[in-house]
Amino acid sequence: MSATAKKVWNESFEDQVAQNAQHSVPVEALVRTVSYYLRNHKKNPEDLHFLELGFGNAINMCWFANRGFRMSGIDVSNVAIDLAKTMIAERGVEQNVDQLVEGTIADMPFEDNTFDGVVETYVLQHLANPDRANAFKEIHRVLKPGGVFIAYLSGRDCSVYQKRKAEELSEDPGTINLESGNNSRIYLDNLGTTHFYSREELESLLAPFSMVDLAVQAYDVPKEEAEQRGYDKYTQSMWIVYARK
Ligand SMILES: C[S@@+](CC[C@H](N)C(=O)[O-])C[C@H]1O[C@@H](n2cnc3c(N)ncnc32)[C@H](O)[C@@H]1O
Repeated sequence: MSATAKKVWNESFEDQVAQNAQHSVPVEALVRTVSYYLRNHKKNPEDLHFLELGFGNAINMCWFANRGFRMSGIDVSNVAIDLAKTMIAERGVEQNVDQLVEGTIADMPFEDNTFDGVVETYVLQHLANPDRANAFKEIHRVLKPGGVFIAYLSGRDCSVYQKRKAEELSEDPGTINLESGNNSRIYLDNLGTTHFYSREELESLLAPFSMVDLAVQAYDVPKEEAEQRGYDKYTQSMWIVYARK
């Protein structure tokens, strides 16, 4: 699976650079949820080592590092890792970035009980089984007891799933191999393996955690953006996962 994912994501980041379409702000739901965590648990970022899964160009990671967190990350795309290193250097936060590893989140090269937190945005939605189930086990394994897991991943009310659910894999419901036929890998419709989570499935995957809180964020993108993506109306529906080991 990793070779295919690496190819898709390398092509995606090359297209994002060519079309000036890279993520340029940290994901607000992640920043907000982490900020509540710090406040509610009276944590100082400087005491925390967090792992970001699928950090891409490091736009989230730079926010964390700038806030004082020590950060490590794992991503399957070497193109993403090069972009991340550039952004980390440009923003002058290298001193707070520890390891950036090329690899898959389904099998991570980190010791048990290593991290105070694991975070991700739009990554676990790109794994089919058995990698998806393995990735959740790995997240639990590398977190310290009491560590926090915060994730932002797609749900089944997303317009893409609603439009294309007839294509879902019979052996892995919720998963679609999204190929659109056009050769730009910027939009979800052409990003290969994509999984749309149900509440029941997340509850089952997160059962080993001592506390789990699932929230939904749904919004419609502006009509001109929807039309760019080939939709009259495009609803983004995302789960915000907040869990403690
Ligand atoms: C949609 S991008 C999101 C990037 C970043 N999290 C953000 O929000 O800007 C998905 C990211 O996950 C990475 N990725 C996809 N599958 C992966 C896997 N199995 N293991 C590690 N990284 C993966 C991709 O290379 C890419 O950087």
